[in-house]
Amino acid sequence: MKVIIQQNYDKMCEWAANHIVNAINAKKDGKPFVLGLPTGSSPLGVYKRLIEANKAGKVSFKNVVTFNMDEYVGLPREHEQSYWYFMHDNFFDHIDIPAENVNILNGMADDLEAECARYEAKIASYGGIDLFMGGSGVDGHIAFNEPFTSLSSRTGVRDLTEDTKIVNSRFFGNDPSKVPVKALSVGVATVTDSREVLLLINGHNKARALKHCVEDGVSSAWTISALQNHNNAYIACDELACGELKVDTYKYFLDVYKSERL
Ligand code: GLP
Repeated sequence: MKVIIQQNYDKMCEWAANHIVNAINAKKDGKPFVLGLPTGSSPLGVYKRLIEANKAGKVSFKNVVTFNMDEYVGLPREHEQSYWYFMHDNFFDHIDIPAENVNILNGMADDLEAECARYEAKIASYGGIDLFMGGSGVDGHIAFNEPFTSLSSRTGVRDLTEDTKIVNSRFFGNDPSKVPVKALSVGVATVTDSREVLLLINGHNKARALKHCVEDGVSSAWTISALQNHNNAYIACDELACGELKVDTYKYFLDVYKSERL
């Protein structure tokens, strides 16, 4: 696991966006670059920079296929808090990606299990995901894989914990009862099967999650810790998120990846 510590949120996003641009541009076999994507506030600065890079001609998304991590059950696309809406509003509507290259789980499907199986099969049809970008919940969840979800889980229907409903209620008028109770989510193993994983972890409120992800054992109590077993996983973080790391851990990663520091 490579932990890239940047001074602040802006630099973390700049590093992550550059990393993604370089990965897309390095793909030379003519096949689409398959990119996994998250929602949330953490990736917003990365999306902003990717849009700028696209407009500046530094990267094209014409041969990029995307798979989003998750979607609420029961919110139609046009609902402002659906992840479909979020992704189009914050990213897809501003880049040159063909609409048919965008994949987002359909939380309105009649048969949710079949929708999840279809999604896994479609990922497999592209030969898997090249790079999966993600975030982390305050409780260390990845996508909507809440604490104690199996680390070998695949795409499926998930119940949201009370904690997550409270955290996400900021988008639903601060009323946790308005947050959908279920979501569709890629599994932990769907993420870790990707050739590369890049998690964004920033801010004081993620400091515990980062500590458990990096320093403690692999445990389904903190599903992001599954990345410890991945051989090409990056955590991009800011100084604020490092608040609970041991001084030695912090110094180690600063030293080893000093050439990545912006
Ligand atoms: C939700 C999403 C996660 C995301 C998390 C953190 O629970 N399902 O994929 O990582 O929120 O979001 P934020 O970046 O806003 O803290």
